[in-house]
Amino acid sequence: MKNIQAIGIVGAGQMGRGIAQVAAQSGFDVVLYDAFNNSLEFGFNFIKTQLDKGAEKGKWTSVDAATALGRIKTTLDLGQLKACDLVIEAATERKELKFEIFRKLDEVVKPGAILASNTSSISITEIAAVTKRPELVAGMHFMNPVPVMKLVEGIRGLETSDETFNTVAATAERMGKVFVRAKDYPGFAVNRILMPMINEAVYALFEGVAEVKDIDSAMKLGTNQPMGPLELADFIGLDTCLAIMNVLHEGLGDTKYRPCPLLKQYVAAGRFGRKNGRGFYTYEK
Ligand code: CAA
Repeated sequence: MKNIQAIGIVGAGQMGRGIAQVAAQSGFDVVLYDAFNNSLEFGFNFIKTQLDKGAEKGKWTSVDAATALGRIKTTLDLGQLKACDLVIEAATERKELKFEIFRKLDEVVKPGAILASNTSSISITEIAAVTKRPELVAGMHFMNPVPVMKLVEGIRGLETSDETFNTVAATAERMGKVFVRAKDYPGFAVNRILMPMINEAVYALFEGVAEVKDIDSAMKLGTNQPMGPLELADFIGLDTCLAIMNVLHEGLGDTKYRPCPLLKQYVAAGRFGRKNGRGFYTYEK
């Protein structure tokens, strides 16, 4: 197994900053990259606030919080990820963007380092194929909010080596997560099951089976889920839910995965959920 000490993270958004926080708290040196200075600053300040809040609540000491924050370096230069042993990409869920990032990472990151993607649905085999090191590419799918959720879904591309997969599993475990192994088919395991449930909840609303709040209460109180499916869809982002349903629909070719017209309409109208204040619910900005 490879020895991982320095982890590079691409993208300081919701997922990237959460992964950076957990990695730093688990003793890894972290280099957090984003292409935009305002995202990078926002992401870093968010981590600082979360670490301070945790210290106030007594989850860890303020010394621990300062030590973790001190392990995180930020950069606008992808070249600064050169010395990392593992890079976890958590950029926007767009195929062409991820391909471009992996082509660049393959050029700048030292030979032998592992390149992982936090993609929720894009094929790891296809991402790996744009690099010259496909055996060193794997999926590490974290759940939101990363510091709270226990799971990392590991995705093994066609060419991923045993050593790479075992190393990402051990790294996730060192980060206090449970690593579940999935093969590289559309939606992997989590979204193959979760997204059709969310999509069906949108159909239930679309067809007038029940109101938004009642659908969510039914599933929260009736099946012990922490959030109802529509609230969860807003939390994940309706644009992301639609993108994943499209991957399932196209990739598996079965009409049972067709995205609900209401979900498409909400996304077309710019209702993306919690991230921009409006989805099935309205949120204060
Ligand atoms: N970052 C860090 N910590 C957070 C947080 C965040 N963004 N949001 C909440 N927390 C922490 C709080 O600090 C609190 O910690 P303590 O109990 O130690 O004080 C704890 O989580 C509970 O928070 P709250 O009391 O504020 O709120 P809650 O009890 O309603 O829980 C929730 C909030 C954890 C988000 C819960 O509603 C939940 O588990 N929801 C389901 C989340 C889920 O399913 N996520 C997976 C989505 S799928 C995905 O990510 C993958 C994909 O590909 C789409």
